[in-house]
Amino acid sequence: MTRKYEVLELGDYSRRIGEDNVRLVLGTFNCPLNNEVQDFLMHKAVQAEKLKSAITYLVFDAEASSLAGYFTLVLKAFSIAKDKLSSNNRKLISRFAELNERTGEYTTALYLIAQLGKNFTIVGPKRISGRELVELALDTLRKAQRVVGGKLVLVEREADRPKLLDFYNACGFKSWNERYDKGDAVRYDQMIRVLESVM
Ligand SMILES: CC(C)(COP(=O)(O)OP(=O)(O)OC[C@H]1O[C@@H](n2cnc3c(N)ncnc32)[C@H](O)[C@@H]1OP(=O)(O)O)[C@@H](O)C(=O)NCCC(=O)NCCS
Repeated sequence: MTRKYEVLELGDYSRRIGEDNVRLVLGTFNCPLNNEVQDFLMHKAVQAEKLKSAITYLVFDAEASSLAGYFTLVLKAFSIAKDKLSSNNRKLISRFAELNERTGEYTTALYLIAQLGKNFTIVGPKRISGRELVELALDTLRKAQRVVGGKLVLVEREADRPKLLDFYNACGFKSWNERYDKGDAVRYDQMIRVLESVM
């Protein structure tokens, strides 16, 4: 039997139970595979929520009332050089993006799944799957899509983590571009998929 999950926006949840209690709940999250995913939830998510720069959603196991995982969503500007695109991707992005003839770059707004992680404190079959988390993130984005449109979803995977390539490929994302972040000294694989609407 599939488990039932409840998705709560961090700000709403905080108003409901108070910030101190939220911090206690966030303290139950443990994601040893990815320090950034861990650190963001512990130290940055609440502030980002207040600034509305990134909105975090907590995913609860409805039956166990435990924090199963989380994801963070952002609206983002995305640019890519025309000559880096395959003909299929060029066709796709040209439906949503503007081409700057001078720079040769397409620019569009898209949705970014900025963070996504399971709570590894939960063990065994009760642990949510990554696939379920991504589906919940996409369902949340569909609500934004119904209001303001938007068709493309981006994830940025650390390029030296091949297991994440397999995971995001299985979730329908394809590698489009690579970018180097000087601050983190990390190469990111920018992976995109179409957000199909559900009628
Ligand atoms: C990514 C994630 C949601 C996928 O969940 P899932 O599909 O249920 O799959 P699993 O958790 O079993 O992970 C699949 C494999 O990828 C590996 N993996 C997962 N995240 C990884 C990471 N950040 N770095 C390196 N390897 C990772 C796992 O160790 C596992 O390897 P195995 O097959 O040898 O056991 C989940 O592993 C997770 O929360 N990872 C940590 C957070 C993270 O990295 N998020 C992505 C940010 S871009």
